[in-house]
Amino acid sequence: MGTANEIFDRNYNNIIKRLELAGITPLIKIDDVKDALPLMGALTAANVNVVEITFRTSAARDVIKMISSKTNLLVGAGTVISIEQVNDAVGAGAKYIVTPAFNPKVVDRCIELGVPVFPGCSSATDIEQAYEKGLRVVKFFPSELLGGVKMLRALSGPYPFMRFIPTGGIRADNLNEYLSFNKVLCCGGTYIVPEELLKQKRYQEITRIARESVNKMLDIKLDHVAINTDYATGTNLLKTFSKLSGEVYVESEDKVCGIEVVRDGKHDNLGHIAFSSPNLERCVYYLEMRGFVVDPSTVVKENGKIAKLHLSGDNAGFTIQLIRKQDP
Ligand code: 3PG
Repeated sequence: MGTANEIFDRNYNNIIKRLELAGITPLIKIDDVKDALPLMGALTAANVNVVEITFRTSAARDVIKMISSKTNLLVGAGTVISIEQVNDAVGAGAKYIVTPAFNPKVVDRCIELGVPVFPGCSSATDIEQAYEKGLRVVKFFPSELLGGVKMLRALSGPYPFMRFIPTGGIRADNLNEYLSFNKVLCCGGTYIVPEELLKQKRYQEITRIARESVNKMLDIKLDHVAINTDYATGTNLLKTFSKLSGEVYVESEDKVCGIEVVRDGKHDNLGHIAFSSPNLERCVYYLEMRGFVVDPSTVVKENGKIAKLHLSGDNAGFTIQLIRKQDP
């Protein structure tokens, strides 16, 4: 088991890891518990499996209970503003708590229960209070109105050890700007489950929004194609591509016009097709849900982060490689 603090730390670290992989968590206001399971189905169809249910309706506790007992989704409770709500949320199965403001009583109760808490902070003063409680991740709210990434960069100067969950004004089109700042753990937003669509039970539409948002976040793009061959054949190929593009052939360069030629004659397949994504840990998290498997022997890390890897399996003689999109 362990002490209250040890239990808190273990749960805290696990939830932090999971939120970072997810990248985006929908903030959901749900009035009718009957909508909970169909909505969860709509979200899982888009590989969204971390949700924050906000205590903005009287159904919140029952919704959390339903999700935690009937699905595998990771469910957190949001808009928690009292000790009673912490007790209700945790009793119903919420695995973490998010609050709009820094409330020391709420934070203390969560720590006492060993339940990760992400208090809302909007200033340096709030951040210091959270830090004093031993927390290192806070919700940043309302993010866009407070200055967004610019403000987060400024706050990270004196508090480089803190990470943030910005919410308030996050949409599919500014999500990546936030996630590209390494102090941002993940983002929260109501845009994935618009209240109107939920009321009208337009679940397919919600799946579409969630899927588009995940795709935009992963930003998987074709980077290059690599052809495996021997030295002489490969050199001829590189010369042909150089002539075609008008570039001068350079002996030491293996890539022309986005085509890489591997001239070592050591491979028994045709080559690989490489796709880039800004965060390969997150990309793998989602691709595994889509049924892909990483070939563990191919994982290359740089500064503790995955820089490239291959997926298992053959694709018409090619493997699929993932490479981390370099920051501009
Ligand atoms: C929150 O609780 O963090 C905000 O209400 C979320 O804001 P949004 O509606 O702009 O996502």
